[in-house]
Amino acid sequence: MAPSCFNNQPWRLVFIRSPEMLASMHSALSKGNEWMRDASMLLVVLSKREFDCIIREREYYQFDTGIAMGLLMLMATEMGLVAHPVAGFSPKKTREILGIPEDVAVITVMAIGRKSYGRTANVTDEQWNVDSARPVRLRYPEFVYMERYS
Ligand SMILES: Cc1cc2nc3c(=O)[nH]c(=O)nc-3n(C[C@H](O)[C@H](O)[C@H](O)COP(=O)(O)O)c2cc1C
Repeated sequence: MAPSCFNNQPWRLVFIRSPEMLASMHSALSKGNEWMRDASMLLVVLSKREFDCIIREREYYQFDTGIAMGLLMLMATEMGLVAHPVAGFSPKKTREILGIPEDVAVITVMAIGRKSYGRTANVTDEQWNVDSARPVRLRYPEFVYMERYS
């Protein structure tokens, strides 16, 4: 039910759950993202510029797909799951493994599963430390403006 420009719904989603396909996709993950090997599901998020509004310089496919995935993350959370998107993967390998044509953009891969409180061999020291606390966000004055951009 996510909104999109003209209700174009530009997102295309490949859910991967079989052990064989998960193992193939693990080879597409970047160094540092080995922790994703522990997820029971990977979601590959695709879209295409032409699937959505193009209004002069404004191309909405990434924005609309982002809204939908943000809502998907909220829904996963409500279901007691964790959905973690990454940029650290090879689109080229992902295309080869899943048969995605060149004109379809591979936007993100999301690890989806239950949160594990134990540490596995796939979690590096760095990742373990990063995940021990939510990183701080910008303070409102750093990104919120009133009346004028300044
Ligand atoms: C587009 C995008 C790409 C990301 N890429 C990675 C990644 O490759 N590896 C990773 O561990 N986390 C990745 N993340 C997670 C962010 O690092 C994380 O959301 C941010 O540091 C805030 O932490 P928090 O979500 O735990 O609060 C990514 C998040 C987004 C939205």
